[in-house]
Amino acid sequence: MGNREETAMQSREQPGWSPEPVAPGPDPHDVPMSWFNIVPNLPAPLPPARDPEDARGSRLEVQQRIRLDAMRAQDAATDSFLPIPERVRQELAGLGRPTPLLRARALEEYLDTPARIYLKREDVLPTGSFKLNSAVTQAYFAARQGVGTLVTETGAGQWGHAVAWAARRFGLHAIVFWAGVSARQKPGRHTVIEMLGAQVHQSPSELTAPGKALLRDGRHVLGSLGTAIGEAISYAADHPETRYISGSNLPHVLAHQTVIGQEVKTQLDALGETPDTLIACVGGGSNLGGLMGPFLADKAERGDGLLLLGAESAAAPRLTRGEWRYDHADPEGVTPLTKSYTLGRDYELPDTHVGGLRQHSGSSVVGVLRQQGLLDAVAYEEGEAFDTGRVVLRTEGMLIAPESCHAVRAAIEQAVRARETGVAKTIVACVSGNGALDLDGYTARFGGRAAHA
Ligand SMILES: Cc1ncc(COP(=O)(O)O)c(C=O)c1O
Repeated sequence: MGNREETAMQSREQPGWSPEPVAPGPDPHDVPMSWFNIVPNLPAPLPPARDPEDARGSRLEVQQRIRLDAMRAQDAATDSFLPIPERVRQELAGLGRPTPLLRARALEEYLDTPARIYLKREDVLPTGSFKLNSAVTQAYFAARQGVGTLVTETGAGQWGHAVAWAARRFGLHAIVFWAGVSARQKPGRHTVIEMLGAQVHQSPSELTAPGKALLRDGRHVLGSLGTAIGEAISYAADHPETRYISGSNLPHVLAHQTVIGQEVKTQLDALGETPDTLIACVGGGSNLGGLMGPFLADKAERGDGLLLLGAESAAAPRLTRGEWRYDHADPEGVTPLTKSYTLGRDYELPDTHVGGLRQHSGSSVVGVLRQQGLLDAVAYEEGEAFDTGRVVLRTEGMLIAPESCHAVRAAIEQAVRARETGVAKTIVACVSGNGALDLDGYTARFGGRAAHA
């Protein structure tokens, strides 16, 4: 492509930031007006983040410095609904929201179940996952604040991919610390993130103090979401012109994702359906919070009549085997202490192809739901997840992300139970992402003769 064409395309691709809706823009009338703020609707107070008692300085103060103003304000908000700016609603509409709620009839037939299985299709968003909902939102607020560079971490690469696009959309630069093992598994996604113009660093890296310390000591050398979080925060703290954004875990990210649950509510209402079971995979808890948050009042009313189920990786079994206690979210202790279900920050996560669920601790919000008995949890081995992915491919024709396979696995188990009991349950599972750029994991499982089994 000649230089002139490239310049012309760049100017079309980078409209820069505008606080106003872009005219003529996509009609956002089916996009929710507000985010649902889960924290004030929890059955128990959220345990506050706090500083450890050591001489390394206040982690909480660092957080104040490196975060976007609007995100700090949203985390502190006590209103149940937070208005979504018009420009963000329009962006979400332009990306394809509301996403479809698919009745998975072929899967139901395959299972010979009386259950009705609905899949919330976050995988159809253009970068391949629900992560775009919060990436676009945070990029918008960064541009509004006049921030030029966003620093973040990513586990599976889906968040990094979403941020890379959202940053470009708002004329920002993105720096992404990516759990090394996952980055190496996914050269395709790596290429796409770099094509979008983001800078990618495999974590642990030599670029930051926590990365160097881990490499020097030979700890967590595979990298994980935790190592990448520590490095992204450390990098942002050392570069005051940047701001750090998070892709999960924190109340504001979960709130941004509640467009998912609000849409599901509307879509089920239109079908005359009442859900018996809501299922999401759980890493930092944002697609889970996003799907289930808007149903918390229903859960309070219906108790056991509405099952909320989190599906995690057996390689990082925090909700099923972890302890509810304060811990750092990164191995080097760069983050403040937060209370969640944790395996301990020294826990060396095994090498898996499920990068988005591969972390030692989790969200305090999800932790409270679990601790208060509102959230059930189940853990699956990697092989079980990929086998589920093959079933979904063969029935519905969709290649879903390895993380999402955990949620659908749980939905299948519930549907099989419905077959055994003869009770026609309505089951909703969130398909958090598309698996086309996660083929390494499928290939590791099915490459060769197993594919024909
Ligand atoms: C496709 C996909 N689903 C789910 C997750 C887990 O994130 P969360 O627990 O925040 O929903 C990730 C994280 O990277 C992901 O990429």
